[in-house]
Amino acid sequence: MKKAFQKKEKTPILQVRELVKTFVNGDIETHVLKSITLDILEGEFLGIIGRSGAGKSTFLYQMSLLDTPTSGEIFFRGREVSSIDEEEKTLLRLNHFGYIFQDYALIPELTAEENIMLPLLMKGEDGEQAQRLARESLQRVGLEGKYHNRPNQLSGGEQQRVSIARAVAHTPLILFADEPTANLDSQSAEKVLEVLLSLNKRGQTIVMVTHDVEYTKSCDRIIHLDDGVIVGVDNLMLID
Ligand SMILES: Nc1ncnc2c1ncn2[C@@H]1O[C@H](COP(=O)(O)OP(=O)(O)OP(=O)(O)O)[C@@H](O)[C@H]1O
Ligand SMILES: [Mg+2]
Repeated sequence: MKKAFQKKEKTPILQVRELVKTFVNGDIETHVLKSITLDILEGEFLGIIGRSGAGKSTFLYQMSLLDTPTSGEIFFRGREVSSIDEEEKTLLRLNHFGYIFQDYALIPELTAEENIMLPLLMKGEDGEQAQRLARESLQRVGLEGKYHNRPNQLSGGEQQRVSIARAVAHTPLILFADEPTANLDSQSAEKVLEVLLSLNKRGQTIVMVTHDVEYTKSCDRIIHLDDGVIVGVDNLMLID
C-alpha cells in the first residue's frame, strides 16, 4: 500500500491529552474514557476499532468537539480548544471539521445538492458558490447525475456518499466518521471506503470509527480501544 501520506512530514494536527469522559446520571457515574492521550497526524487515515460499548463514539465526539470532556486537553493546530466558548467551537467545527454518521443524517425534504449547500450557506457562501461546491463534491464521490435526487430516491450507499460529499464540501482539515459503513451491504461499504481512501490520497486527514477490522484495511494506523483505554496500536505506515 503506497500512499502520499508516507512521503509527507508527519505533523500532529489534533492532540488529545489525558482525556477523561465520565457521564453522570443522578448518582450513577459511568467512566467511559479513562485518560486517553493520542496525536492525530496531518494527512493520516486513522482507524479506531473496538467492541460495542468500548467508548469509540464517545471518544470521537470529544475529540471532534461535538461534546465536552470531563477533563483533559485537546489541541487543534497547537491551540487548546476543549475549553473555548461554544460560539468559537461552532465556528471551528463549521470551518475546519467534517462529520459522517452511521445514519447519514440527511434532510429528507432536500435534494442531494441542497443537503450539501445548506451548511455552506450557513457558513456564509453565496448561493452560486454553494451550488458549485456541492456539485464538485458530488462528482468527487461519484454521484454526478444525482444532484436532484432526494434521500429516498437514493440507495443507502449513495446516501452515505452524499453525506461524505456534504462533510468535505468546505474542505475540512479533519474528517470524522462514526461507523460510516455500519448500515450498508458489503458492496456499498466497499464503495464508501474507496471514496474515503481517494479523499485521503488527496491529503484529507480522516479519523474513522469502526467495529469491523475488515474496514480498517485502508487505514495508516489503527487504535484499539477497550473499556475506555487504548490497548493497542497497529502502525501500518511502517509496513511497505
Ligand atoms: N450520555 C450517556 N450517559 C451515560 N452513559 C453513556 C452515555 N453515552 C454513552 N454512554 C456509555 O458509554 C459507553 C461507551 O459508549 P459508546 O457509544 O462510546 O460505545 P461505542 O464503542 O461507540 O459502541 P458501539 O460500537 O456500539 O457504537 C457505553 O457503556 C454507553 O452506555
Ligand atoms: Mg458507537
